[in-house]
Amino acid sequence: MTPAVPAAPGGPLARVLLRRLRWWDVERLLPVEAELFGAGAWSAELFWSELAAPGRTYLAAEDRDGALLGYGGLALAGPDADVQTLAVAPGAQRRGVGGLLLDALVAAAREGGASAVLLEVRADNAPAAALYAARGFERIGVRRRYYQPEDVDAHVLRLRLGGSGARSGAETHRS
Ligand SMILES: CC(C)(COP(=O)(O)OP(=O)(O)OC[C@H]1O[C@@H](n2cnc3c(N)ncnc32)[C@H](O)[C@@H]1OP(=O)(O)O)[C@@H](O)C(=O)NCCC(=O)NCCS
Repeated sequence: MTPAVPAAPGGPLARVLLRRLRWWDVERLLPVEAELFGAGAWSAELFWSELAAPGRTYLAAEDRDGALLGYGGLALAGPDADVQTLAVAPGAQRRGVGGLLLDALVAAAREGGASAVLLEVRADNAPAAALYAARGFERIGVRRRYYQPEDVDAHVLRLRLGGSGARSGAETHRS
């Protein structure tokens, strides 16, 4: 992906740019992270280590004034790619930004040769579930009481990109 690309030729998304998320963006996204994920929010250190890890694609969505609208991350390992996180600032939600980020992460998985994209989503996260279902993700498992201390199950979702898509191992990720 080029450093900054217009997200769509027309409509509200024409004002959204996708680019690589960099370590210097982390301080700026932390308030959004805290607001969206509360006790489950990632620390700056966790973001930095994710950005430095091999096989990662982290993207930021910005408006043309440089305001951060959202971000998402993908880890590519073997035949599978994992969506590590996906977040859209409350004031920017339901305008297509989450779908745009997700589509870009799936494209990165494809380009990286993955045969499937996997993720975990809280069983009570209806907006995210709707987004993933709209993009063709299917539920393949449940991790009971995965989110603590809230004691909420995780649904494991998969989008096949072609090929066998066999899961090679479990990783810790939030999405
Ligand atoms: C989930 C999230 C990333 C979606 O981002 P978004 O920019 O609002 O999503 P989009 O505008 O691209 O929505 C795409 C589709 O997802 C579904 N969707 C998104 N938000 C929804 C909501 N609140 N209720 C129902 N469906 C919703 C719809 O199908 C929507 O398409 P439509 O608007 O044409 O009906 C965003 O709500 C968010 O950041 N939530 C908090 C963090 C989180 O839960 N992250 C995911 C962790 S797994």
